[in-house]
Amino acid sequence: MCGIIGYIGYRDAGEVITHGLKRMEYRGYDSWGIAVNNDDGLNVYKRVGAIGEIETVDIGNSTLGIGHTRWATHGEPSEINAHPHLDCTRKLAVVHNGIIENFLSLRENLSAEGHKFVSETDTEVVAHLLEKNLNTSLENALIRSLPAMKGSYAIVVTNAGKRELVGCRYRSPLLLGIGDDEYFLASDVTAILEYTNRIVYLEDHDVVTITDEGYTITNSGTSVERAIERIPWSLEDAQRGGYEHFMLKEIHEIPKIIEETLLEYVTDTINLDISLAAGTSEIIFFACGTSYHAALIGKYIIEEVSRIPVRVEYASESNYHRTPLTRSLVIGITQSGETADTLNAMRRAKSFGAKVLAITNVLGSSATRIADHVIYTRAGPEIGVAATKTFIAQLIILYLIASKLAMPPIDETEKFLTEFRMLPEKIRQILDNTQAITNIAKILAGHNSMIYIGRNRGYPIALEGALKMKEISYIHAEGYPAGELKHGPFALLGAKTPVVASVINDHTHEIMLNNIREVKTRGSLIVAITDERDEEVERYVDFTIKTPATSAIFAPITQAVTLQLLAYYTAKRIGCEIDKPKNLAKSVTVE
Ligand code: F6R
Repeated sequence: MCGIIGYIGYRDAGEVITHGLKRMEYRGYDSWGIAVNNDDGLNVYKRVGAIGEIETVDIGNSTLGIGHTRWATHGEPSEINAHPHLDCTRKLAVVHNGIIENFLSLRENLSAEGHKFVSETDTEVVAHLLEKNLNTSLENALIRSLPAMKGSYAIVVTNAGKRELVGCRYRSPLLLGIGDDEYFLASDVTAILEYTNRIVYLEDHDVVTITDEGYTITNSGTSVERAIERIPWSLEDAQRGGYEHFMLKEIHEIPKIIEETLLEYVTDTINLDISLAAGTSEIIFFACGTSYHAALIGKYIIEEVSRIPVRVEYASESNYHRTPLTRSLVIGITQSGETADTLNAMRRAKSFGAKVLAITNVLGSSATRIADHVIYTRAGPEIGVAATKTFIAQLIILYLIASKLAMPPIDETEKFLTEFRMLPEKIRQILDNTQAITNIAKILAGHNSMIYIGRNRGYPIALEGALKMKEISYIHAEGYPAGELKHGPFALLGAKTPVVASVINDHTHEIMLNNIREVKTRGSLIVAITDERDEEVERYVDFTIKTPATSAIFAPITQAVTLQLLAYYTAKRIGCEIDKPKNLAKSVTVE
């Protein structure tokens, strides 16, 4: 959802901020803007669209400024609605990520007091509130303004002619980067990795004031110290590294990620702390999008090896369902750790006394603040909007959790670990042999609609394959349990609707073949994704993509990578903007 950045130091602020915004574009890319602050006052530069190849902007010499890349919520993408927003005196510039829910009433009151608004955004009220409350210092004006605002915010402000940045956060991410004689504020560490990896993660209600001399943090009026952490990610992790797209690079990182996850969590046994699960009566997963699909696979695997019932809910629907019990273990899965719906579901579960575990990829993210315990996926920064490597990293953690929860007489540990160790090589084989995938992508690229089907663990894979396809190629794609097709979706079958079938070499194999034959007689082109040992399926389908042989329980992983590549090459064939699909943002920090 929007990305914000602030800089104070000795470098050219226009350049630092442009670089930072480019790295945060995955958070929003319909418009962007920068304000730099020097002796002459504020210079503001705004543009509609993505930053693209721009390296710096001609905005005047300055070593202090703020910037914003936008994913529109209030008001269409336009230069007027792009941040930074200014007050009436044009001395205060504000960038904001989040939503000021009561902005309409604030705007009405401020307008009645004579403030003139120019944009349709919620953020502009912040600039005017600050103007109204500015009497001693900018910090003080912000502290006086915050109680009036309802909603979520990370805000960075600067005051013309003053060498000072002030920021605050509540339920939207904001971190402080500390360099040598320079400081950064940013929504995301990738924005500033080029300059520093020393980070302070701000807490809700923190207000940070930065000058050339240093910084101070207060929380609800009291001065606080926050730990400085060193981030293990490098700039290289956040760059394309010769790949045409981040998405392709990130898919290619999957074997390494599996190896690193195993190094982190596995010796001759699995060293994952799941003590929160002790005595639990049920596990409830809350997640959105791709993370929701990971949770669904987790359910199948955990229920197969343990006796613990597992519920998986869309985080956005969790309010409307049975509340978690005190003996429930709630697991929030969120790669960004900032998805508003997932965070709300986790908070609500905690308020009912449930234990809450977070599985996330981002150190210091909001999910880590809410959870009683955190298990990190080791995927490194994911820049492509479509989740790929983080999905596989989530699956690996879920498989490790499942094998820790396995109940006697099932002890899958040895089997799981043997399979895990072979997985990176198998995925490398898929990455090195994409001919069948690219050939089929060419055919799929000529269609407007397709259906994905699967059974058992293949069903969430069908959902995820369809999600990847629709989000980056804009081809309408739906995933269904294979058995559900005849209960309605059959009406869509025919030459114009190809079907992609996830076939797994287990007890579901025979019935999947029946379903495939049923589809074939309705005239749809069928692509099957199956294990290389499966010779039978070829008789009934038009095309087969073979994945290296794995035990059936691990087939979702090799199939997911294959379907990610299928979506990628289809979108590439069509010529889509793969890393930044229209209307989407990587981190959805509003409900
Ligand atoms: C799809 C995708 C989204 C996210 C969803 C949840 O490729 O990336 O569906 O999975 O927005 O995001 P996180 O995992 O950050 O909570």
